Amino acid sequence: MAVSARGGAHLTLERLEKRYGAGPAAVASLSLEVEQGELLALLGPSGCGKTTTLRMVGGLIPASGGRVVVAGRDVTALPSWRRDMGIVFQNYALFPHMDVAANVAFGLQMRHLPKAEIAARVQRALAMVRLEHLQARRPRELSGGQQQRVALARALVIEPSILLLDEPLSNLDAKLREEMRTEIRDIQQRLGITTIFVTHDQVEALAMCDRIAVMRAGHLEQLGTPHDIYEHPRTPFVADFVGRTNRVEGVRDGEGLVAAGGLRLRANLPEGSKSEPAGKVVLMIRPHRIVLGGTEAGADWNSCDGVVRRVTYVGDVLQCEVEAGGVRLAVERHTQPGVAAPLDGEAVRLAWRVSDTLAFPAEPV
Ligand SMILES: Nc1ncnc2c1ncn2[C@@H]1O[C@H](COP(=O)(O)OP(=O)(O)O)[C@@H](O)[C@H]1O
Ligand SMILES: [Mg+2]
Repeated sequence: MAVSARGGAHLTLERLEKRYGAGPAAVASLSLEVEQGELLALLGPSGCGKTTTLRMVGGLIPASGGRVVVAGRDVTALPSWRRDMGIVFQNYALFPHMDVAANVAFGLQMRHLPKAEIAARVQRALAMVRLEHLQARRPRELSGGQQQRVALARALVIEPSILLLDEPLSNLDAKLREEMRTEIRDIQQRLGITTIFVTHDQVEALAMCDRIAVMRAGHLEQLGTPHDIYEHPRTPFVADFVGRTNRVEGVRDGEGLVAAGGLRLRANLPEGSKSEPAGKVVLMIRPHRIVLGGTEAGADWNSCDGVVRRVTYVGDVLQCEVEAGGVRLAVERHTQPGVAAPLDGEAVRLAWRVSDTLAFPAEPV
């Protein structure tokens, strides 16, 4: 789906900043735009500033600097309830003494809507998350997944123009998490609601979102489509955080070859760096892009001989560690009926594309 087809930025964060005290900012000069109807993931490790960002956008905490703009209107100084945003908190924050229907109705009562309209909208919101039959229950009488749906219904019932979700699936077990991914995405697309989805789970971000903003230590590290972020990470941090990767340190010579341990590899150098002087580099190679037993050769391929050091069977995939030229490489292959797994100690040939050998200048430590 082309982002441009949605027509213009709906939500803009302009150099948004948060300082809780002395020391580095929790969020530093964060700028990004979310398009109308877009689902944008804020992805990053714990403590990188995702919740802080979401809370500033939602008006739950004041920003120390910068602006939040919705459809061209500066809302930075507005209280949360006047921002027209539905918020789902990580711990759901349901009212324990109220039943499901009352929890969902709460935001409408705060807005003093007529009783009949509140009742109708609560029923619509509960239908959307398929919870009509449980509306008389208290939160403690619900499973984690059901509580999550109540929180979602409570956010949607005010018919907000923007939906903010803070790790909404992180308390659910793996199978339910996958189901809820699809369900949230379906609802979000059906309503065409502009959404920020906070997560530390890269698979969730890749699977659900139109674009991903990768955050690191309060900064925006990279913004792009899931394909961009996965295939063209701009920093070793992004390559490492999104998807599995081998990280191999090496030294680039004048001909552009990288010596890493006993290996000499061709690398896909970032545009503009090809003429840079030789020096230390970090290579990133995805385990599943390395062909185990690969005989491919030629200018587009790297290849080497190695010895299998460990094989782990995880059902659909075989994960192997292969030692080659003093370097340990993780290699993944899909399991296939009739194809034997390699054995510990077995000699194997590895091959992978030069285009899958991403090179970055070594970061100063
Ligand atoms: N109320 C607070 N007071 C002081 N520091 C805070 C507060 N909330 C968060 N922080 C700090 O701000 C940083 C970002 O936190 P947070 O936004 O919760 O990260 P994330 O949601 O990505 O895990 C962390 O270093 C955290 O310790
Ligand atoms: Mg958080």
